[in-house]
Amino acid sequence: MKKLFFLVTWCFAHLANAQWTNQQESSVQNILSQMTIEEKVGQMTQINLDVICVGDIYKLQEPHRIDPAKLKEAIEKYHVGSILNCGGHAYPIEQWHEIISGIHQATLANQQQHSDEYKNIPVLYGIDAIHGANYVMGGTLFPQQLGQAATFNPALVQEAARITAYETRAAGIPWNFSPVLDVGRVPTWSRFFETYGEDPYLCSVLGKACVKGYQGEFGNDNNGEIDEYHVAACMKHFLGYSGARTGKDRTPAYLSDIQLKEIYRPSFQAAIDQGALTVMINSGEINGIPVHANPKILVDLLRKEMGFQGMAVTDWEDVIKLVNIHHVAENLKDAVALAVNAGIDMCMVPNDYNFTNLLIELAKEGKISEERLNQSVYRILKLKMQLDLFDNPVPFQKNNYPDKMTSSFQSAAIQTAEESITLLENKKGKTGSLPWASGTNICVVGNAANQLIYQNGAWSRTWQGTDTTWNDPARLTTFKALQQANTGNTYCALSQWSKEAAKAANKKVKKSDVVLVCLGEKPSTEKPGDIDDLNWDKAERQMMKWALGTGKPVVLVLFENRPRLVNEWVEQCTAVVMAYQPGEWGNVALANILFGKTNPSGKLPFTYPRYNQSLLTYDHKHSEELDPSFGSKAYNPQWPFGHGLSYSDLTYQNMSITRSIGNNGKMNWTVSVEVKNDSDRDAKESVLVYKHDRVASVTPHVKKLINFKKQVIKAHAAATYQFTIEPDDLKFVGANGEMLLESGVWDIYVGNLSGTIEIK
Ligand code: BGC
Repeated sequence: MKKLFFLVTWCFAHLANAQWTNQQESSVQNILSQMTIEEKVGQMTQINLDVICVGDIYKLQEPHRIDPAKLKEAIEKYHVGSILNCGGHAYPIEQWHEIISGIHQATLANQQQHSDEYKNIPVLYGIDAIHGANYVMGGTLFPQQLGQAATFNPALVQEAARITAYETRAAGIPWNFSPVLDVGRVPTWSRFFETYGEDPYLCSVLGKACVKGYQGEFGNDNNGEIDEYHVAACMKHFLGYSGARTGKDRTPAYLSDIQLKEIYRPSFQAAIDQGALTVMINSGEINGIPVHANPKILVDLLRKEMGFQGMAVTDWEDVIKLVNIHHVAENLKDAVALAVNAGIDMCMVPNDYNFTNLLIELAKEGKISEERLNQSVYRILKLKMQLDLFDNPVPFQKNNYPDKMTSSFQSAAIQTAEESITLLENKKGKTGSLPWASGTNICVVGNAANQLIYQNGAWSRTWQGTDTTWNDPARLTTFKALQQANTGNTYCALSQWSKEAAKAANKKVKKSDVVLVCLGEKPSTEKPGDIDDLNWDKAERQMMKWALGTGKPVVLVLFENRPRLVNEWVEQCTAVVMAYQPGEWGNVALANILFGKTNPSGKLPFTYPRYNQSLLTYDHKHSEELDPSFGSKAYNPQWPFGHGLSYSDLTYQNMSITRSIGNNGKMNWTVSVEVKNDSDRDAKESVLVYKHDRVASVTPHVKKLINFKKQVIKAHAAATYQFTIEPDDLKFVGANGEMLLESGVWDIYVGNLSGTIEIK
């Protein structure tokens, strides 16, 4: 009987959690009905932590601490709804607790009475925990999103997000500005590493997995409630941010309706369908209209077509940018009206109260209706209720989150990095080729050999990730991780290029069997990461020239924000490995790969360019393959999308396609393929399925990814992969923006095999 009672209570509790209840709805409506205009506008205001700390904005006094008078002003005078961290600092978890409790205490001290039930409205704290809880000291750092994409393993992406959510919540923060769902189409872009790569389908599958990890199971519908181990996800940056023509951050994108629908939209749609609760808007402009001022995107597309019901926050200073960057508003007041009427719910102001004051004026003058404010404030209050912030604003006071920063979380980070690291070249059988036997004498060089900042990338403790306290020699660096993994001689000969250092290294290198060059691109993001040239900087080029001149076999490992050109070196290298920015534990993963403890299974989630001016994606059009002699060699990347070698010899065989009627009563096709592993070690292989429409009313792509699966293939065994293709997978965006299924023949490509599908 007791058991039954328990079961009933459990089910009831879970059901209650899973659904937005009438009770919650009436609580939110009740609060809303008692709020003044000033309070409503306050809820729509998000300020930077600097605004409430001791010191000046961007020049806070150390150690950072809250200024009670400023906090009181923010809560009592301006009724701010949200605070975010600025990118300057990471804090120990205890300091986060002080900050979050301090803010909570200030809301309690505020004497507003919003309903019989809820006296105070909690403040929603938001943060960029984009590859782990990167602003919490000791937080587990995972590979950046681009590396996570290379795993082609949604389960790992989901787990990384779950752990990130757990540690972010342990610090007291319930809202994460992640994942980036911008599709990485332009490899020069400074935020390329923040994307899941160039393919919309891959971005959709992994984006969905990430949202699931952040929000947990209860976030599955828009009404779900999130428990104290999860956070609200924030899809960003809607829409088309990564499509800027110049590849420079926040510059104009010129995108057709077909491109928007086919490339930039699916990842957001997948996340919305997964129940993502918030969205951040693209700071840039599309076809001449800044997105923050475009109701066609923010309302017609996002809300009406795509069905998003959650809360939309601006990006950093994007309302004032309508005046001083985009020049579509004469003054800030016009800009506020433009953005709010276009559909934003919350403004990441974040350094003053001008937005707040002007929005109050606009509302009182009737230039913005109270109905419009209510719509946004309802969404904000609902989000706070969904996060249980009204009843449980500081969960860390009751729960000490025992799993945080434990070795099991680190193991997850190591596994993610291992599955991401991509073997691009390996001259098997040659001296120095991978994997190395333990006992190999290794001369390690390159800036990333002993500086962790190159491993972590931007958004690691600081915004740009260049905080050199990371380079504390006590930490485990790539060099040390290799030393630990090797019984042979591992020594670091040259980390920063200089002629003198190179001379000294010449002597040391003689004792080595192989030179390992760890080449790192300096971490950066957003504007500071803009570049004019994909070639490596001079110091790194000199380093490579030196290494290749030693006469020893050279293995090159790349730690990059985006693909930097390596064409002139590849032929001379014995192996080339892409490490992406694998996070703090990536060096352990790298050592496991180099010494063969782990068989590499990462695959490029983007097309690695060979030349600066040849930046085609894999899903280009047929006309883009024509070269100057009218041959079809114009698409000639260094390595294609999906490329990645294993230490095992893997053969794709026995592909078949069978037609059947699916459970839904619709025609579908089952693609089956076997992958044979002719080696002594187990392998993991991601099999990618592409379609190619032979003739279509809109020029077809040479191929397009429609499915993928990663499985283990035991040594000397074969594994079968099965995929279902449905008619919807064969659709494309038609000339009028509709999803079209035309009759005809499709090639289905799997590895070097192919088959066809026909619809009459
Ligand atoms: C970035 C966003 C980020 C926000 C808050 C902006 O500059 O574009 O991605 O979430 O800052 O840090």
